[in-house]
Amino acid sequence: MEYHLRRHDGEFRWVLDIGVPRFNPDRSFAGYIGSCIDVTERRQAEEQLGQAQEDLARVTRLAAMGELAAAIAHEVNQPLSAIVTNGNFSLRQLESGDPNPAELRAAITEIVNDGTRASAVISRIRSLLMKGTLPRTELEINQIIQDVTILLRNELTRNHVLLRTELAADLPRVRGDAVELQQVLINLVMNAIEALRTCTDKRREILIRSAKNPDSVLVQVQDFGPGIKPELADRIFEPFVTTKAEGIGMGLSISRSIIESHGGQLSIVPASQGALFQFTLPVSP
Ligand SMILES: Nc1ncnc2c1ncn2[C@@H]1O[C@H](COP(=O)(O)OP(=O)(O)O)[C@@H](O)[C@H]1O
Ligand SMILES: [Mg+2]
Repeated sequence: MEYHLRRHDGEFRWVLDIGVPRFNPDRSFAGYIGSCIDVTERRQAEEQLGQAQEDLARVTRLAAMGELAAAIAHEVNQPLSAIVTNGNFSLRQLESGDPNPAELRAAITEIVNDGTRASAVISRIRSLLMKGTLPRTELEINQIIQDVTILLRNELTRNHVLLRTELAADLPRVRGDAVELQQVLINLVMNAIEALRTCTDKRREILIRSAKNPDSVLVQVQDFGPGIKPELADRIFEPFVTTKAEGIGMGLSISRSIIESHGGQLSIVPASQGALFQFTLPVSP
């Protein structure tokens, strides 16, 4: 048995006592033989371990919430700033006294599209939290690439960046969620734009390619900016890893989990110039 025992100096200790009764040949009781072990330190260590496990569980929950909040902030920031830009543009048009109806209509259409996309992103994050996975549909990846070039048109113009596409014809369809795959491409292209912003002497160009692998579809996003230092290449997919003063470091981490939840892989490939990211998506059966 384990019990609390007051020692000769008055201090209480935890003791583990083990004893076996002994008997004389005439079966009379001859006392116990056994051991008495002081287990005070072991019990304290067990209590501390329990406390540490509780603390760890709390910290893990907090970190998951922090990542979620950062993910929402990251994914919604881009459409929000596009909305503000187009809103300001529309106001200036109206205040000029001679607004151009076609341009005004285009700017307001983009505001509506970006607002719709931001709310689609949030409702996806919410349904991921509640159910785990989103319904998948059959998609053409070239269509998703074209959607993204339209969504980012203003961003590209403003940064004087040319986006070229080399899309393979007759690609098989993939199964997935269009908004999530758009998010991945937007993250990759926005990173490329931000990388090109830092340099003036380089080709201000981004290239998106699509191609067919034996059982998958391949998409590559390449820029001709400063590229990624090899010592950083292992870490950039981790949450909160950023080299930007205003970066959150969530874009690549979110993008990788989206691609992996689609059964594909997102990686960085060594390139002769700039940074080259690629992802694969399994062909829909
Ligand atoms: N196209 C690129 N060129 C150079 N560095 C890049 C590129 N894309 C990503 N990176 C590096 O990876 C880091 C992490 O990217 P990301 O997860 O999108 O977070 P953030 O953009 O908030 O920094 C960036 O801070 C940058 O150092
Ligand atoms: Mg980013």
